[in-house]
Amino acid sequence: LQLDQATPDQLREWDNQLQQDYEAIVAKKLSLDLTRGKPSADQLDLSDALDGILKGNYRAEDGTDTRNYGGLDGLPEAKRLGADLMCVPAENILVGGNSSLTLMHQTMLTAYSFGLNGAESAWENTIEPKVICPVPGYDRHFTVCEQLGISMITVPMTAEGPDMDAVEALIESDSSIRGLWCVPRFSNPTGVVYSDKTVERIAKLGQIAHRDFRVFWDNAYAVHHLDAQAPELTSIFAATRRHGTEDSVLQFASTSKITHAGAGVAFMAASTSNLAGLKQYLSACTIGPDKVNQLRHAHFLPNREALLEHMQKHAALLQPRFAAVLKALEENFADTCLGSWETPRGGYFVSFDTRPGCAREIVRLAAEAGVKLTPAGATFPYGEDPEDRNIRIAPSVPSIEEVVGAMEVFVVCVKLASVRRALAAQG
Ligand SMILES: Cc1ncc(COP(=O)(O)O)c(C=O)c1O
Repeated sequence: LQLDQATPDQLREWDNQLQQDYEAIVAKKLSLDLTRGKPSADQLDLSDALDGILKGNYRAEDGTDTRNYGGLDGLPEAKRLGADLMCVPAENILVGGNSSLTLMHQTMLTAYSFGLNGAESAWENTIEPKVICPVPGYDRHFTVCEQLGISMITVPMTAEGPDMDAVEALIESDSSIRGLWCVPRFSNPTGVVYSDKTVERIAKLGQIAHRDFRVFWDNAYAVHHLDAQAPELTSIFAATRRHGTEDSVLQFASTSKITHAGAGVAFMAASTSNLAGLKQYLSACTIGPDKVNQLRHAHFLPNREALLEHMQKHAALLQPRFAAVLKALEENFADTCLGSWETPRGGYFVSFDTRPGCAREIVRLAAEAGVKLTPAGATFPYGEDPEDRNIRIAPSVPSIEEVVGAMEVFVVCVKLASVRRALAAQG
């Protein structure tokens, strides 16, 4: 469909044909779901050995009885698991409860209300603290800012990570900028791995930004590659050490998409000073995290080799689902003007950009044909995609056959919405 060269008659003919295809699909009364970036039941099964792994021995290696209170920053062996996951020294790790999103929320709340470096460092001392959000991005990051009343400024994502010219220009021109959200490996949703150059530039932001500026480096997909040749991520920890900016970066990760998504272990990696700031806040919230679960995870994933081996089993389940999505996109949209996408080498999503003004209509058409997609706009702050273009596809939960079926619907909806939009534009 070469929409831009088409005559009105040609467009009307396509519209009629696609309408028939669409009606045939609606008649099938499908019920498929591509919305949720969560592991399938088969993936969860991979970690069922966690149950009972302690065989009644609740002692950690330092003698701690994990059943009892205490241990605000985590067991030594759980810190090593975090270190294996994030490639940072274990002494820089804090081990939390089951959710890294909770840790990110608590850390941003601490930075905002109490200060990570004493009361005078609290962001709320500034009239309008702002956080930079690369878009499209992870909706829950935006919700954290929205809930805390922190203004968000968007910058575009590129194939190498956030547009760093834009990020640096903002930080240089606006001293109220206090944060930057990043998903550096297999970004949610674009799947991009930040290039070495981007990591280096982010590590240097601490030299030009306000003292209380923090990068929220959410490495949710640190080891979640679909193939062994997927690009690695340069260590931002090492880069900040080289540039003397250790305090400017806070790293997060969890085992949510490694073991049991709702019953995993979350980690934060940060400088001693930042860890102290967060611990002061945490000590008012809890007497300690679930150390029994930390110990179970440390036994289940005793070193980085075990971790990577385990992740290969996830990749074997995920890879064919991603292949089915990409095959449908390539067969139908390669070398067309109907949409563009990145080919992710890991993570949980494929991000598809439609022609401007089509995303909402495609999601609506797909829903009426029984295929649920993430609401258009969800990948932007306040749910507002200014160009109405981005759609996030999450293929991990449905079976391969279901992914193939859902993509057939998606393809027809993209074509139909695009043709109708072109017709409307011609008046
Ligand atoms: C980028 C990103 N960060 C964090 C999370 C949630 O992590 P957790 O389960 O550790 O709270 C997700 C889940 O989809 C995610 O995509």
